[in-house]
Amino acid sequence: MHANSTLPFSQASENNKLPILEILQRHFDEISSVLEIGSGTAQHGEFFTQQFPRISWQCTDIPQNLTITQQRISACSFPNLPAAITLDVNDSEWKCSSYDSVFTANSLHIMSEESVVNFFAGIPQCLNKSAIVLLYGPFKYQGEFTTDSNARFDLWLKQQNPESGVRDFERIQELATAAGLSLLEDNSMPANNQLLVFKLN
Ligand SMILES: C[S@@+](CC[C@H](N)C(=O)[O-])C[C@H]1O[C@@H](n2cnc3c(N)ncnc32)[C@H](O)[C@@H]1O
Repeated sequence: MHANSTLPFSQASENNKLPILEILQRHFDEISSVLEIGSGTAQHGEFFTQQFPRISWQCTDIPQNLTITQQRISACSFPNLPAAITLDVNDSEWKCSSYDSVFTANSLHIMSEESVVNFFAGIPQCLNKSAIVLLYGPFKYQGEFTTDSNARFDLWLKQQNPESGVRDFERIQELATAAGLSLLEDNSMPANNQLLVFKLN
């Protein structure tokens, strides 16, 4: 373990890693590789590679954020946490190999709705047979926020970027179905988030 307090840090990532771990433990028995989209500070990669030493965790981010992601990966120097690679979900062709799982946390409400469509159009090219797709973040159900604080969060997001916003669960499910994915679980998580688990048919 490194001890470097100057690395990029996300408090949300720190708070959600243990609750997410509980769910991953149910699904990662037969998984040996994970592609993470929008890794940010790479705290999830750092933590989950230690929890699952046999799993190789590939962090990615858009080109302008890759340096942020790489800093923690370089500091860790874990054999199962390779150098981050560039991946923008809007890339027409994703330069990825195939993985047993795709994971993303708190990214679908940051990227535009069109990017969310491209996310689902892109992931099948990176998935092995029977792959698991895990999506962590807040969602709306039947057009309603699950809490007032998520409604306020949505307003705040839109002030930062009008294209951001909490996504509709039903739309996510529709896009996932079109990508050949079936919903296995919708887990309610702390801080008004969900962890959706899909499996490739
Ligand atoms: C709120 S951060 C979450 C970071 C990290 N997953 C976490 O949980 O701390 C949102 C991430 O989505 C990434 N992102 C935004 N647009 C993207 C796109 N078009 N393709 C891939 N990632 C994107 C951002 O660069 C950022 O790393």
